[in-house]
Amino acid sequence: MPWFPKKISELDMAQNVLMYGSDLDADHPGFKDPIYRKRREHFYKIAMNYKHGQPIPKVKYTPEEIKTWGTVLRELHKLYEKHACKEYLENWPQLVKYCGYREDNIPQLQDVSAFLKRKTGFQLRPVGGYLSARDFLAGLAFRVFHCTQYIRHSIDPFYTPEPDCCHELLGHMPLLANPSFAQFSQELGLASLGACQEDIDRLATLYFFTVEFGMAKQDGDLKVYGAGLLSSVAELKHAIASSDKVKRFDPDLTCQQECIITDYQLGYWYTDSFEEAKEKMRTFAEQIKRPFGIRYNPYTQSVEVLSNEKKITALVSELRGDLCIVNSALKKISARDSTLDMNRIASLLQKGLITENNGGTTNNENQKDNN
Ligand SMILES: [Fe+2]
Repeated sequence: MPWFPKKISELDMAQNVLMYGSDLDADHPGFKDPIYRKRREHFYKIAMNYKHGQPIPKVKYTPEEIKTWGTVLRELHKLYEKHACKEYLENWPQLVKYCGYREDNIPQLQDVSAFLKRKTGFQLRPVGGYLSARDFLAGLAFRVFHCTQYIRHSIDPFYTPEPDCCHELLGHMPLLANPSFAQFSQELGLASLGACQEDIDRLATLYFFTVEFGMAKQDGDLKVYGAGLLSSVAELKHAIASSDKVKRFDPDLTCQQECIITDYQLGYWYTDSFEEAKEKMRTFAEQIKRPFGIRYNPYTQSVEVLSNEKKITALVSELRGDLCIVNSALKKISARDSTLDMNRIASLLQKGLITENNGGTTNNENQKDNN
């Protein structure tokens, strides 16, 4: 069984950056720019020194960085109204209001993290580059999203070979503020804890074609919720134009599709709702080879390994408490609704809009209309 973090603080030990950390590849747009490389080193150090519970250090972005951000935001914003899913558009005004999303300002991760915490319990953690799929998914299990803080090179504002803060802030954040999407993301993460590498690869592919490149059918039209699309002008236009390449999300099939990093995807996947994606993922997660169940405890911010009867009994007792709350709320709603109905009938009787007859009422308003 591979090691996995049991407590949120243990994410400090799950920080394997695989690519684009402090070193850049020779074909990276910033490879020959010593100032850019120095800047990337600075961001890498912030991420590697970060420990759970600390505030994320604020960054003074340079005028050049802010200009790049502004260019990307301006162009993408023209496409959002028409192509972004409704959950994305609903949260956008709040990000502007509470986190400073503006063309002349790159939002600070600490502000966005505090905003998400209030909305869905998600929080951000700075990361220096591409994290291993296992570590990234483990973060999601604790509602922690690993987020880059650096920005792409200014030489080409519409291209980056790796995720940068334009991708994270414009692509991911509005959706992480949606409760249903947040839960979907966490369930993907929980499914990954302790899984074998083969299952991690399949979950990472499902993450890729949902959270990064997913679409939703809303009011008969295909809308986008994937952050990889919502942060790329070119691929967003390409994906929307290729509706014949969009298939209904089916985890067993989707997990076999190749993830393409340097070019457009060969196909995209949609669901009608995040609830549908969640249900399908739950069924898929049952195939994951793991000799126990796992549950997240939000009070202790830890995962509970349900490996014996005693632990399951304790969980059932807790769930019974929650079910009592639901039951009591339902009774109150039902009592309130029948009181409302009675009050409404009394009011209609008073106005003469209905009259009492044998065991019922007659609607005089309709009769008046008919006359
Ligand atoms: Fe991403």
